[in-house]
Amino acid sequence: MTLLQVQHVMKVYTTRFGGNQVEALSDVSFSVDSGDYIAIMGESGSGKTTLLNILAALDKPTRGSVLLNRKNIVQIPEKEISAFRRSNLGFVFQDFNLLDTFSIQDNIFVPLVLSGKKHKEMEQKLKPIAEKLGIEHILTKFPYEVSGGQKQRAAVARALIADPELILADEPTGALDSKSSDDLLQHFDYINAEGQTILMVTHSIKAASHAKRVLFIKDGNVFHELYKGQMSNEEMFQKISNTLAILAAGEDGNA
Ligand SMILES: Nc1ncnc2c1ncn2[C@@H]1O[C@H](COP(=O)(O)OP(=O)(O)OP(=O)(O)O)[C@@H](O)[C@H]1O
Ligand SMILES: [Mg+2]
Repeated sequence: MTLLQVQHVMKVYTTRFGGNQVEALSDVSFSVDSGDYIAIMGESGSGKTTLLNILAALDKPTRGSVLLNRKNIVQIPEKEISAFRRSNLGFVFQDFNLLDTFSIQDNIFVPLVLSGKKHKEMEQKLKPIAEKLGIEHILTKFPYEVSGGQKQRAAVARALIADPELILADEPTGALDSKSSDDLLQHFDYINAEGQTILMVTHSIKAASHAKRVLFIKDGNVFHELYKGQMSNEEMFQKISNTLAILAAGEDGNA
């Protein structure tokens, strides 16, 4: 089943004084099936964050549409957007975005508190997720009392707690050491195997090699796409490296 359809998305930023226009996305189209695991790669400035912000309904495209379950999120009225985001999307940011004055547990509860859930229900939802992510013992601690990897797992728990249709992750392993980053990727493999749809932006070939599909963005367009199929992580890693080399070589060719 198709969960997300991105159709001819264009984004032009106009600078404050209206003089310069930057075309961050030219004409991006792709679709995501329910249960898919997509990595988006591309050089700095290629439009990845711009795309993620549009998918998260944090920004509107200049042209094109984004359908989540056939509903065009571009047309959702401003006052309904936060509620829409809370009930459909889960976010994992590079810098975790945990609130320092809240315990880990209260941080994880934020999306549920905002949608008015009862404490008992929140605790019931948290239990299996905390077990799965191995964070039961740090729930009463504060973010400054736990490690980077634990913070990241708390951020994943917060993204999962409202049962979102789609998890959007921006460089989820960017701030992690290699052990924590391997753990996070294993958790993503696990939740994806359980049916969770994931879309992540990453510079890490290793992270991308866990995905079922990798989209390469260049100059605001989808330049290439790789399907993992039956390939191992190692084979996928090699394919992604080769594609990135071709992308970089293309740039030399234009110079
Ligand atoms: N608010 C903005 N106003 C004007 N231009 C912008 C704005 N945000 C991004 N851009 C420009 O749009 C282009 C795409 O930026 P974007 O942040 O999407 O790239 P990215 O692929 O996420 O890069 P990185 O890997 O460095 O995070 C760049 O040329 C950038 O300078
Ligand atoms: Mg970015």
